[in-house]
Amino acid sequence: MAQIDIAGLTKRFDSGAAAVDDLDLTVQDGEFLSLLGPSGCGKTTTLRCVAGLERPTSGEIHFDGEPMVSRGVFVPPEKRNMGMVFQSYALWPHMTTFGNVAYPLRRARLDGTAVAARVAEMLDVVGLAEYGGRLPSKLSGGQQQRVALARALVNRPQVVLYDEPLSNLDSLLRSQMRREVRRLHDTLGSTSIYVTHDRTEAMALSDRIAVMQAGVVQQIGTPREIYTCPANRFVADFIGFDNLVAAEVVASDRDGALVRLGGDGPLVRCATTSVRPPGSIVELAARAGAFRLAPGVPQPGLSFRARVSTVTYLGEDLEIQVQAGEVALLARIRDADVRAATQGTVPVSGDQVDLSIRPEELVEIGA
Ligand SMILES: Nc1ncnc2c1ncn2[C@@H]1O[C@H](COP(=O)(O)OP(=O)(O)O)[C@@H](O)[C@H]1O
Ligand SMILES: [Mg+2]
Repeated sequence: MAQIDIAGLTKRFDSGAAAVDDLDLTVQDGEFLSLLGPSGCGKTTTLRCVAGLERPTSGEIHFDGEPMVSRGVFVPPEKRNMGMVFQSYALWPHMTTFGNVAYPLRRARLDGTAVAARVAEMLDVVGLAEYGGRLPSKLSGGQQQRVALARALVNRPQVVLYDEPLSNLDSLLRSQMRREVRRLHDTLGSTSIYVTHDRTEAMALSDRIAVMQAGVVQQIGTPREIYTCPANRFVADFIGFDNLVAAEVVASDRDGALVRLGGDGPLVRCATTSVRPPGSIVELAARAGAFRLAPGVPQPGLSFRARVSTVTYLGEDLEIQVQAGEVALLARIRDADVRAATQGTVPVSGDQVDLSIRPEELVEIGA
């Protein structure tokens, strides 16, 4: 339907640093792209510039080569052929479901029969065929959000912009609506930009994710690329690597490297893609779930002994904070595995545990 090209986009408000700082981004025709990042990193401002609700300080935005924002050009929101869905459903409280969904069509001066047909079709798509006559106040939060989705999509817009649309829903409804949002995108074939601070939501929905911090895109890639190959420390931390550790290369070959974690921590193997000379310092990242119990005499490079600092029971898993030399690590291990290995006694603070980590789950940041 439309490719979105954003070039050199900068937005400064009166005070302080740029909310969006020289951002370049291309969203492919039909793509679902998420802007992911912590609160205040400039996601909403970027989206509002694409929508035409905000005038950029500088930069250009094109839809399919047509300038929306360019030298001397500023196309107003209602002329951009897009739909928007907000966190606050922003429904008209005095209009029924039907009236809310019909609103964009009536503004576009479609005749009554066509409006009725399109609204009925759309309500069917979002599963609200029975609710056309209800006022928003008589609908649940999830149903209201479906009305907002239907209203945004009823015009078959070339571009759909979402700003944290599911954040107000409880977690069960959220995962259900996530599938709904993706299904609607696939059915209607629009190009979507989706703003969220929730990495699970971004992973589940997106073809690609752009991770933002301080108005700048830190990394852009498929969910798997972002999840497994973080470009820098910020992305690694934000995407859920619990352990970020500097390490010194002891030996390396094409299969990976033998490294020493921290100044005097354990020797472990990591799978890096690049051969580094011994003595090089690398930044590594591992999720807590990458660790396994390795009972027995520790074998340098394969397993190591550590002292337990704290143990937290999470139900299925135990979260174990350990100290290995100067390095503090967080490990998450199946409760059943721990109890099988220890004849039922769960380690406590001060105990020793023997751990291993799979080399492919110890990744080099920015590799
Ligand atoms: N209308 C505004 N006036 C002044 N500053 C703003 C305005 N809107 C956003 N900002 C600032 O711009 C930065 C980015 O905000 P925003 O785009 O809303 O971030 P996000 O959506 O990622 O949470 C923040 O520092 C915010 O305080
Ligand atoms: Mg926001």
